[in-house]
Amino acid sequence: MTPVSARVRGLIAEMTDAEKLGQLQIVFRPRLEDAAQLIRDGIGSVFWPRSAAATNEFQRVAVEETRLGIPVLVGLDVVHGQRTIAPVPLAQAATFDPALVEELAALAAAEARSGGVKWTFSPMVDISRDPRWGRVVEGFGEDVHLTSTMARAMISGYHGSSLRSPRAIAATAKHFVAYGQPEGGRDYNTVDASEHRLRNVHLEPFRVAVAAGAASVMASFNTVAGRPMHANHGLLTAVLKHEWGFDGVVVGDAEGVRNLIPHGIAEDLADAAAQAYEAGLDVEMGGAPSEVREALLARVDRTRLDDAVARVLTLKERLGLFDQPYVDEAAEITAPTDEALRLTRRAAVRSAVLLKNDDALLPLADHRRILLTGPYATSTDHLGAWSQPFGAPAGSIADEFASRRPDAEVSVVAGVDFLEDDDTGIAAAVEAARDSDIVVLLVGEPSALSGEAASRSDLRLPGRQEDLVRAIARTGVPFVVVIETGRPLIVSDWIDLAPSVIVAWHGGTEAAGAIVDVLLGDADPSGRLPMTWPRSVGQIPVYYAHERTGRPATTGGTLTTTTEDIGLHGPDNVQEKYTSKYLDLELGPQFPFGHGSGYATFSHGSPRLSARRIARDESVTLSVDVTNTSTRTGDDVVQVYVEDVVASIAPPVRRLVAFERVTVEAGATERVSFRIGDEQLGFRLADGRLVVEPGTFMLHVGSSLDRTQPVAVTVERA
Ligand code: NOJ
Repeated sequence: MTPVSARVRGLIAEMTDAEKLGQLQIVFRPRLEDAAQLIRDGIGSVFWPRSAAATNEFQRVAVEETRLGIPVLVGLDVVHGQRTIAPVPLAQAATFDPALVEELAALAAAEARSGGVKWTFSPMVDISRDPRWGRVVEGFGEDVHLTSTMARAMISGYHGSSLRSPRAIAATAKHFVAYGQPEGGRDYNTVDASEHRLRNVHLEPFRVAVAAGAASVMASFNTVAGRPMHANHGLLTAVLKHEWGFDGVVVGDAEGVRNLIPHGIAEDLADAAAQAYEAGLDVEMGGAPSEVREALLARVDRTRLDDAVARVLTLKERLGLFDQPYVDEAAEITAPTDEALRLTRRAAVRSAVLLKNDDALLPLADHRRILLTGPYATSTDHLGAWSQPFGAPAGSIADEFASRRPDAEVSVVAGVDFLEDDDTGIAAAVEAARDSDIVVLLVGEPSALSGEAASRSDLRLPGRQEDLVRAIARTGVPFVVVIETGRPLIVSDWIDLAPSVIVAWHGGTEAAGAIVDVLLGDADPSGRLPMTWPRSVGQIPVYYAHERTGRPATTGGTLTTTTEDIGLHGPDNVQEKYTSKYLDLELGPQFPFGHGSGYATFSHGSPRLSARRIARDESVTLSVDVTNTSTRTGDDVVQVYVEDVVASIAPPVRRLVAFERVTVEAGATERVSFRIGDEQLGFRLADGRLVVEPGTFMLHVGSSLDRTQPVAVTVERA
């Protein structure tokens, strides 16, 4: 059993079996009128009842009307803000700015805790490499290092220096594990992953999250190698708890225990619950324990039960709940402060990715007649998936734009709706375009199309939006495109028509202001893509860190065909044919991971190493000079990718191991340095050990995967 305090031990010694089972359940969104009775009956955790006053009443019932007076743990999905809605997590990843992500999480924690929330079901640290899966919006994208870095930052922001602080909430790393690799991108679907892939891809961000002190971990809905995660002893107990020493709470996902029946591994609810607790689940989200109390108690091991209870009570203790179960109702934050709005605006700006700016149409010049068109011109749907209904709403881009350019004639013609198959409004948009000096096309995927249970098989702009883009392009009037989305979209049918394109994601409460800041050049759109943008759905999954193949059509991440080493002889076309690619698709993605520029331009000096040869356990310093070659201050994101030249296991073509976002003044040079050692050069064996194999490693340094310079370091044989 996990070491526990005397208070927790004493409580467990006094508790009845029914009281223990009560602590092992969080009631999933109860009706308010039912919740008080559930708490009286001994339920240990509930979802947030939406105000400090209602939370205090729950606590009063728990403290005054239950035999042992144990306060309830109040949880909620605080995913990207509580009142001040920040950009969606995928957009936060695009900032490549973990310090900013930490600040956003700290803000969300302070707002949420002031209302009585103590426990959030965030961050989502699933690696997502299939944009058909709607939940890519909730995580940090396809890359292990970026996701792990952002996970650490978010947890640190939620927890602050102590969980007892009135500004802290307990973080949950979810969904454990490999939930981001469902077959066909269909939410909740099957996952089959090798030990190698689990260790080096899916488990790694969780390992980092646990090391960063995550208070809880949520089990995922999927199977891994046939075993549903809610009953997966090998991963929940052997890896998470025993190998990594996780001493927090393993919480189930909503009705995830009940779902073991349709999964086909449990006969009934009691069987499902018993299997889940035995596998290492501590708290069930939803129904079973109280419904099947007797049957469950007859089966479940009492030491395991006490261990689960100890974990829950210890979390309550760490949060200071036993000493202060109530919150100060007068101090509840119900609306964003100006400072909070400034912070989230900054994040929205920093997450925007400039995909292309061929004719330097951006930032917009002093055009006199400006048309705003597309469904996002007037829509206020900027908050994104998993934003709370009580979060501060966003304004529209049209209103914001008009107020910022009072000197211009700004016309607004939406042209098409997000989803409707109706192109009758396009003619009016075209007519307005012909009377304009510049057109700003505001298109995208509305929030409801990404998130949970929002998988899509067609990732083009929905409705008739592509027709609108083409119609505007045909007018010959210069135009720029802003895409709002919760996932990578397929833009290949029209992207070549558009000279300048920005991806603004779903930017939260301050999205409209941030988009206008970027359009007008008051701020730089200097985010980078946290996920590859495919050329076509048929190419998915396509991600940069793919394993090397024996017949590569992509090599070294440079996405050029190579025929060397394939060993086939004959005319060139024979050699080219037998490589890993599609006959009907250009090689490589539309935009690679890490892609994006800004209004400033940069050049990099040659990367330098403090040593060319190192022993295992040693590290080198890698540095590169970044010069701003433009006339405006801007941010570059320096990215370091490792290529393990020869390894015992086919390595990924490249793997991001370090990055830094750096601000450089016009004409100035900044030096950026990284430490490169075992963590960066090694990979994990099936048993979880990190191994660094001797040999040469190429370090590719640059501002994007497709613009890097190499430098070699050799790890010597011991
Ligand atoms: C189901 C989702 O999978 C999970 O991420 C979320 O935390 C729970 N519902 C609770 O809302």
